[in-house]
Amino acid sequence: MADYPAAQPHGPIEKLLDDVYWVQGSIRMGPGMRINRNMVLVRQDGEITVLNPVRLDEATEAELEKLGTVKDAVRLGYFHGMDDRYYVEQLGAKLWCQDGSSHHPEPIPDVIMDGATQLPIADATLFVFRKATHPECAVLLPRDGGLLVTCDSVQHHVGTPMCSIIAKLVLRAMGFVKPMNIGPPWRKIMTPEGGSLRPDFERLLELDFDQAVGAHGTVCRTGAKAALRTSVERVFG
Ligand SMILES: [Fe+2]
Repeated sequence: MADYPAAQPHGPIEKLLDDVYWVQGSIRMGPGMRINRNMVLVRQDGEITVLNPVRLDEATEAELEKLGTVKDAVRLGYFHGMDDRYYVEQLGAKLWCQDGSSHHPEPIPDVIMDGATQLPIADATLFVFRKATHPECAVLLPRDGGLLVTCDSVQHHVGTPMCSIIAKLVLRAMGFVKPMNIGPPWRKIMTPEGGSLRPDFERLLELDFDQAVGAHGTVCRTGAKAALRTSVERVFG
């Protein structure tokens, strides 16, 4: 057990919608630099699908096990996955990710996802970024006006909870702190030379959603699509 990354500071499991929960965790990026990092849990027939897995402390993990049986762990972003091995090896989850999700090469995925993949959540749709230089996707849950779950692509920053003082300053300086923002360094790395991710975001904007939560930032409870439209216009001009 010792070689799994330890649980990092996080909040409680909080209800987002019926059978949908989230946890605001964090990750230490460097000395004095801690930013928030979120996980979403979806329960169906007593089984839990974990989106953007974040390891929990022992007491909160016991709460998670009371909610249901962890069955599937879905990696939505190329750069995330540090806790996936823990969920697979210790909690028995099957790992779902896209082909080429090699930033965290372990564990070996059980299911390789593409745009046609039926997720283990009956009403969910998988959205795949087609233009990005590395795998990235998002999940749409068509409930309560639509909930979009992203990883690094879209991050709703209207504050900086769970962030260290240095991180708060750095996130502001880097232009992160905006509603339904497109992650600045993510966009830079994911944009192919001479290309643009705009067509992907235009497709994303064709989905029906009013709420959103990414792997960083906080939950956007309403107006998520309009706010993303504003970000797309600002970022891609
Ligand atoms: Fe991230």
